[in-house]
Amino acid sequence: MTDQITLPRLNILQSSQAPEIPEPDARLATGVRRLNLNESPWPPSPKALAAMATALTEITRYPDHGCSALTRRLSVHNDIPEDRITFGNGSSEILAHISQVMIETGDEAILPTPTFPACAAGLNQAGGKIINVPVAEDGSNDVAAMLEHLGDKTRIFYLCTPNNPTGAAISAADLKRAAIEVPDNCLLVIDEAYFEFAATAPGEGVLDIMKHRTGPWIITRSFSKAYGLAGLRIGYAFTSSAELRNSFWSLRTGFNINRVALAGAVAALDDVDYLANTLKTVIAERERLADGLTALGFVPCESQANFLMARSIGPADRFVAALAAQNIMISSLPWPDADGCLRIGIGQPEDTDAVLAALKTELGT
Ligand SMILES: Cc1ncc(COP(=O)(O)O)c(C=O)c1O
Repeated sequence: MTDQITLPRLNILQSSQAPEIPEPDARLATGVRRLNLNESPWPPSPKALAAMATALTEITRYPDHGCSALTRRLSVHNDIPEDRITFGNGSSEILAHISQVMIETGDEAILPTPTFPACAAGLNQAGGKIINVPVAEDGSNDVAAMLEHLGDKTRIFYLCTPNNPTGAAISAADLKRAAIEVPDNCLLVIDEAYFEFAATAPGEGVLDIMKHRTGPWIITRSFSKAYGLAGLRIGYAFTSSAELRNSFWSLRTGFNINRVALAGAVAALDDVDYLANTLKTVIAERERLADGLTALGFVPCESQANFLMARSIGPADRFVAALAAQNIMISSLPWPDADGCLRIGIGQPEDTDAVLAALKTELGT
């Protein structure tokens, strides 16, 4: 008798959600341009690096499970009460916990497709039913179409803005519509892992828009992207109430946010000038990459994130393989047609040059 027969849930729990990229001796392989995980091309703030070095000297001690210093800063920066802030080992962990908070077997969740898979992974584990609604032509979540799928069993309504992998942000009008029309027995989830890169776009922020909502909501954010701290694994979330926050808080395993991560995140948040400079640089490089791709005949979509998606000329996988042969890692996605799109993380200027040169060679132009 196999495990699959005796333990039926094993089948559900077989798939791993995180990409596995081997690194020698836990060190980054050199000579590889990693533009496939939407990581930061720039190191973290020097102040964050110094704070982490100090934290390493205190590493014999468990960290502050209450994350008090970071909670205070996030509360002040975002004008939200401290008892409505929670943390995860990356925002992925909070997204995976959403189903544990909301889903009984057979309950439904409405998700855009394509999108980041962490929420769906949690739903699969919890036995929830996923209703996938294709993103709009511009790559943003099609809120109107998603609202049409609301039903008696809908318990999660997940939005991602800017959306990964497409890069487009949801308009303020559509976010307001979701805030008002998603019913009070359903958790409205807004994944804002890339919100810093979109913050220069005009209009109300997502947190302001949630003031229009009477029902429950959670906004998830990350230190992995704009702050360049992906390897530390720290994400946070704001919730509509202290009760909801307490539910997520109770799912945290003991000390799941480590001492180095806490020190780095606090110092990174405080270094406002460094963040502004990172954002300015990434956005300028994003425009240069878009122009270069356009000149080669690809069709980049409007991106508000630290990556760019572009409609391919012929099968996207061909370009992914050609770049991989030159140690440049990018990804493809099977959207919106058979050729699909390329998704390229914004790197340093020399990464942009290398990507454009490799694509040019592959095109033979
Ligand atoms: C949309 C989105 N949300 C969440 C995450 C998870 O980020 P982390 O777990 O590193 O905070 C990612 C990572 O790529 C993402 O693209």
